[in-house]
Amino acid sequence: TILVLDFGSQTSHLILRRLRSLGVFAELLPCTTKIADLTWKPKGIVFSGGPASVYDEHSPHVDPAVFDLNVPILGICYGCQEIAWRVNPKNVARGETREYGHADVKITKVNSNVDRLFAGLGEEVPVFMSHYDKLVTLPEGFVVVGATDHSEYAGIAHQEKPIFGVQFHPELEHTPCGTDILRNFSIDICGAQANWVMGDFVQLEIARIRELVGDRALVLGAVSGGVDSTVAAALMRAAIGDRFKAILIDTGCMRLNECEEVKQTLGKHLEINLTVVDAGELFMSRLAGVSDPEKKRKIIGSTFIDLFEEEAIKIEKAAENTPNTGKVEWFLQGTLYPDVIESLSWRGPSATIKTHHNVGGLPERMMKGVSRSTPRMFNPFFCTNVHGPSSKGCVLLFKDEVRAIGRQLGIHEDLVNRHPFPGPGIAIRILGDVTQERVEIARKADHIFISMIKEAGLYNQISQAFAGLDTNRSVGVFGDQRVWGYIVILRAVQTKDFMSADIFDFDNAFLKNVSRTICNQVDGVSRVVYDLTSKPPGTIELE
Ligand code: XMP
Repeated sequence: TILVLDFGSQTSHLILRRLRSLGVFAELLPCTTKIADLTWKPKGIVFSGGPASVYDEHSPHVDPAVFDLNVPILGICYGCQEIAWRVNPKNVARGETREYGHADVKITKVNSNVDRLFAGLGEEVPVFMSHYDKLVTLPEGFVVVGATDHSEYAGIAHQEKPIFGVQFHPELEHTPCGTDILRNFSIDICGAQANWVMGDFVQLEIARIRELVGDRALVLGAVSGGVDSTVAAALMRAAIGDRFKAILIDTGCMRLNECEEVKQTLGKHLEINLTVVDAGELFMSRLAGVSDPEKKRKIIGSTFIDLFEEEAIKIEKAAENTPNTGKVEWFLQGTLYPDVIESLSWRGPSATIKTHHNVGGLPERMMKGVSRSTPRMFNPFFCTNVHGPSSKGCVLLFKDEVRAIGRQLGIHEDLVNRHPFPGPGIAIRILGDVTQERVEIARKADHIFISMIKEAGLYNQISQAFAGLDTNRSVGVFGDQRVWGYIVILRAVQTKDFMSADIFDFDNAFLKNVSRTICNQVDGVSRVVYDLTSKPPGTIELE
């Protein structure tokens, strides 16, 4: 196992993801972890990136004892600066400009010992940079193994010890050779074994659920029809059968015909009897006049929980006379790690991007399960490690892994490949306050866009697509009439991890056709635009 010490970068977990794709198991622990508290010896350690500056007074630092473990170390971005700063604080300073985006690293051949990190990569490789601070002098004992136009020390290696640093981000998709670098580090330099198989997850997880939930408790889970909550529900159903109760809360902000379709699919393919709670009016009344996205999410989150708690009481009552059945002790949450990481600053230095309603929007008592009567949250994708040697790390599954589990559980391909849909639904796809009229317009436009994508055979090439609404109005001309209508924003992205995304390149003729169809068929729309912003700097949802 490789230990990844997390300095709070938004992409720290992608280091795990890349290592796992190589079959190497890794655990993520906070950067301040005391080495004396480790109950296992890692084969190697990666220091992640992070948003702080190493030279600031309150910045996070590793326990110096990591260097005494005598295992290979790789520092990435902040992690590389941490290595240099430890040698001499003067080695790191703010650069003249921020270096963000693509750069080419020229690889310097030194000797077979220090060249191991970049072995097999050729003379120049494209990488992704994202930093302001940089190494301004070469730390004593190190040599340069890679440089870019702006970073003289983009890759460094200790002359004798297996300590390496890179200023760029090998964990990002935008660094195509990133996997090779992490393979060189973990397998060749650290000697880690490539024996992690995803296949074990289902059995281990079912066993873990059974042990945790016991043989009487009920579990209540919200299902949205998205792949994450469906796979979580299927796992739970496989583990505890009918003691798992699934509900779908109709927020009034779902896609066209969604609730009915989800109910049918779950019943038919997974034998899950879904209760649909029709709460559109309640959500609409609580959202009236609210335009701040974070407030919207908080309102939706707390309304979800209110309804959940009401349902839990009803379910317990209904099960009172069923033998060997207890109370609702758990709420099932099928949220992926990228959503969690953007929602919570649980790791100290990382920044909160959005409070996803089903993570950060939840009342504190839910997250902690403070009293016996408050059901606790259970998330199979963000669980205490059952595979690695420590009990503190996390497994942290990603969308493609959840899809693979879905297939193992026999979930229908259409459902497995479904684009994600956020819990707050159309409410966070309307820029500004949400009204029934606006939801209807966005919903119809979305249905047209997605249907046309499907007809064109493009659905599975796109990771997520939708139509949202700008509630500013724009002047248009229909027939001889002046109209003052809403602006529909089309968005379609390609991504593996949903942490970074590229826009999908449609043919112009296709987009023109979508625009024409929406303007003709959806009253109240005078203009259709296609969003060309990648993530970063944009996010996938509009809010
Ligand atoms: P962003 O907009 O953060 O989206 O780039 C990344 C992924 O997260 C989904 N998302 C949400 N999911 N509740 C959810 O359940 C939310 O509040 C929320 N906000 C964003 C988004 O659809 C995308 O798949």
